Amino acid sequence: MDLGLNNKLAIVTGAARGIGAATAKAFINEGAKVLLIDLNVEVEKFADKIGGSSLVCDLTDINADEKVATAANKLGGASILINNAGISKPLPFPEITDENWSSVMDVNLGIAFRLTRCLWSQLSASNGSVVNLASFASKRSTLFGNNTSYVAAKHAINGLTRATAFEGASQGIRINAVAPGVVDTELIRSVHDADTRNKILGYIPQNRFAETSEIADVIVFLASSRASHICGEVININGGMCMD
Ligand SMILES: NC(=O)c1ccc[n+]([C@@H]2O[C@H](COP(=O)([O-])OP(=O)(O)OC[C@H]3O[C@@H](n4cnc5c(N)ncnc54)[C@H](O)[C@@H]3O)[C@@H](O)[C@H]2O)c1
Repeated sequence: MDLGLNNKLAIVTGAARGIGAATAKAFINEGAKVLLIDLNVEVEKFADKIGGSSLVCDLTDINADEKVATAANKLGGASILINNAGISKPLPFPEITDENWSSVMDVNLGIAFRLTRCLWSQLSASNGSVVNLASFASKRSTLFGNNTSYVAAKHAINGLTRATAFEGASQGIRINAVAPGVVDTELIRSVHDADTRNKILGYIPQNRFAETSEIADVIVFLASSRASHICGEVININGGMCMD
């Protein structure tokens, strides 16, 4: 299937590793130009390796969104935005500090809000699309609790997706989200030890975690014109862990 992505510019945040890196590579494989953004300088090496451009930037910094818009403009203007950068800092609810709450909300939700706003005119000019990274935790709590800030931020991503999709639909911008279950990335390894990861398998009917490429493939399809009538959806990719 030709996804029609040749030479379109896709911006992927959090692209140094994990789902973001796999997504950037999948866009390159479809002939798209990709701007990979991450606070981790490793993103430069990875972008060189796959033939993309890179921007090292902490997207929570003031004016980071302007930097991204300028870089995207220089590359011809953004057609696609993948809001993937995310963090998880689990804590029992009474122990959540203001810093935990605001950093988890800002990275998972604030960055997506600011970048979508800042790139809105570029995306509109190119009949573009946005895919946000939600989570199965955007629809229910996490399996073992203790992660309220993350669950709240991911529920809010669904709201951001639907509200912006509504307005974007009449302005040439299609916006959706994906909700992965458990993907075996460093984010998950930093949150759950090997024992807990094994326990989680018991909740997944397919009895395995997702490969990053399985998330990337759905993101790339959703971003493409092949998904032209899908608008404001949050698509589960979780091996049957959470069906709705
Ligand atoms: N791994 C999973 O099981 C899983 C499940 C559901 C949803 N998700 C979501 O998918 C997305 C990617 O997850 P992952 O597992 O690949 O994570 P990861 O930790 O492997 O990668 C996240 C990337 O984001 C970058 N990043 C973090 N804060 C940033 C900032 N302020 N500015 C710029 N870059 C920043 C990190 O440096 C890192 O390279 C996240 O939004 C996550 O919540 C992951």
